[in-house]
Amino acid sequence: MAIFPPQANVLMNAALLGTFAGGVLLLLSIWVVPVIGYNTEERFAPEQPIPFSHKHHVSGLGLDCRYCHTMVEKSSNAGMPSTAICMTCHSQIWTNAAMLAPDRQSLAENISIRWTRVYTLPDYVYFDHSIHVAKGVGCTTCHGPIGDMAMTWKAQPLHMSWCLSCHRDPAPHLRPREEVFNPHWRRTPSTPSGEELMAQYRINTKNLSDCGICHR
Ligand code: HEC
Ligand code: HEC
Ligand code: HEC
Ligand code: HEC
Ligand code: HEC
Repeated sequence: MAIFPPQANVLMNAALLGTFAGGVLLLLSIWVVPVIGYNTEERFAPEQPIPFSHKHHVSGLGLDCRYCHTMVEKSSNAGMPSTAICMTCHSQIWTNAAMLAPDRQSLAENISIRWTRVYTLPDYVYFDHSIHVAKGVGCTTCHGPIGDMAMTWKAQPLHMSWCLSCHRDPAPHLRPREEVFNPHWRRTPSTPSGEELMAQYRINTKNLSDCGICHR
């Protein structure tokens, strides 16, 4: 009498095949997935009408955020640059580049470029840039290493829990005011502590998590 029934071979082969396929999948997930960028932030970068690069303009040319996002210190909106701002330079350099054709067309027809928005909150949430800037919360704290991005990607999903975790304990996220726009700022031993900055900016967390602060 046979110890193994005839189906055993089939079962064994199926098991071997299963193990092999599992192994291949595992290797794929270890090697290939990070390489194809599924795991990198690049996939949060939407296409834009012009492939504008913060890396070139901010880290390369050293332009300040406020040169283009002119409203960020004064209003709730940071504001998007008008074509005229781009043309202060691009009427002289890269004047015929195909990449900039939408820019020239926009200027000629006097309609603004429709950038695809990367960060948006639902209408029922109130947000204000100027207060965060005034209280020493840096742009990169919320927008990630934007000065090094060739295409702008979303560094934060903007969940309510993210806003709240900082509003409950802002101290570790604060920096000196003059560093707010610095895209490469790092804390150094001479940086005032978070608690010192809390006192200096008179930040009071008592009501900062109240629903009415963000839902008005
Ligand atoms: C030369 C002009 C220029 C400068 C300087 C500049 N930006 Fe921008 N920024 C743009 C343009 C154009 C866009 C729209 C295209 C895009 O999203 O990349 C943009 C988009 C953004 C967005 C995404 C907005 C959204 O919701 O779609 C953020 C955030 C941003 N900039 C932050 C910054 C910060 C922080 C700095 C300074 C470190 C800075 N920018 C400097 C021109 C500029
Ligand atoms: C202060 C001058 C200046 C301003 C303002 C400026 N640019 Fe540029 N831009 C440059 C220079 C210089 C280069 C070439 C950079 C390089 O090749 O390293 C460039 C390159 C580019 C390129 C080619 C791709 C790249 O990044 O190298 C695009 C597209 C572009 N700029 C779009 C824009 C748009 C859109 C605006 C307005 C929101 C703008 N620029 C504002 C100076 C400027
Ligand atoms: C506390 C977090 C936070 C900080 C700090 C911050 N932003 Fe934003 N930013 C946001 C959020 C949230 C939005 C989306 C706002 C909306 O949809 O109403 C946004 C949107 C933007 C936009 C798109 C236009 C707009 O106003 O909606 C630009 C440009 C921008 N930010 C630039 C900046 C710059 C430049 C700085 C630094 C001076 C900065 N941000 C600092 C959270 C932040
Ligand atoms: C990294 C820290 C940080 C993050 C993230 C953050 N905030 Fe704030 N927020 C602050 C600080 C600091 C203040 C200033 C508090 C003060 O004035 O005492 C503030 C103030 C505000 C105010 C004004 C409060 C008032 O008294 O009127 C609003 C509104 C606000 N934040 C909304 C938001 C929303 C919405 C988000 C998420 C999309 C967010 N914040 C994310 C740190 C943060
Ligand atoms: C610091 C800002 C902030 C405060 C304070 C805040 N929220 Fe929100 N809330 C948000 C943001 C941003 C969103 C949208 C993003 C999301 O869906 O997570 C949101 C979304 C919501 C939603 C939509 C449902 C959902 O999760 O998609 C509800 C309901 C809500 N908040 C209730 C509250 C209540 C109740 C409080 C008070 C206990 C509160 N919020 C306090 C920022 C805030």
